[in-house]
Amino acid sequence: MKDELRWNKIFGGLLGAVLLLLIVRQGAEMLFAPTPVKTPGYAIAVATGDAGATAEVADTPPDWGTELAKADVAAGAAVSQKCASCHNFANGGPNQTGPNLWGVLGRKPGSHAGFAYSQGMTDFSGKQAAWDYQHVYEFLSGPAAYINGTKMSFVGLKKREDRINLIAWLRQQSSSPPAIPAPNPAAAAPAAAAAPAAAAGATAPADAAKPADAKPAA
Ligand code: HEC
Repeated sequence: MKDELRWNKIFGGLLGAVLLLLIVRQGAEMLFAPTPVKTPGYAIAVATGDAGATAEVADTPPDWGTELAKADVAAGAAVSQKCASCHNFANGGPNQTGPNLWGVLGRKPGSHAGFAYSQGMTDFSGKQAAWDYQHVYEFLSGPAAYINGTKMSFVGLKKREDRINLIAWLRQQSSSPPAIPAPNPAAAAPAAAAAPAAAAGATAPADAAKPADAKPAA
């Protein structure tokens, strides 16, 4: 009889503790209700073509007329080794994990015969007529972030010059590559202004967007 009472107490105590825990947790959830994130974790820089209104742009579009002319094609060929496990670049070459990429510059996205593209790539081809320099450049910086649902499980090329060199090389893997536009240094000027902040490892995009007069000259 005494023993039974003791077990009752123990179980009662345990039950009480569990109840208390549940109440505390519920209370905490009510107190600290999750706030919805205002901007998604990865903001995609969209080139507006309006140089004055690109304060939000994380990566200023290269001036292709200038950059392609001085790109290191051999370095681009070396970078393409990262793609070779999934892509064949030869004329008439096979599709592998990814589609054959001969002549991909200027080609309609998601259009290579015999390759089963993802829905994401198919949707993208609905709004983008051709892979031009800028779109390949943006896609390669982070494929999954750029095209939602893409099958290309490649982390991306973080370095700007890697992408530019690769694109210069990619241009040669084609019988009719798109023309190199005339240099337009004016369009690239904001890039030069934003570069020091980026190089210094500024994390807040708002800071990078501030005019240079924020820092008094010493
Ligand atoms: C792990 C495999 C893999 C790697 C590595 C990879 N890709 Fe891809 N790539 C794919 C797949 C799969 C697709 C098709 C994507 C889809 O359908 O969403 C694709 C699609 C593409 C497309 C679009 C082709 C078209 O016909 O529209 C381009 C351009 C491209 N890749 C370039 C590259 C480059 C350049 C590299 C190297 C820097 C690379 N890929 C690395 C798998 C890969």
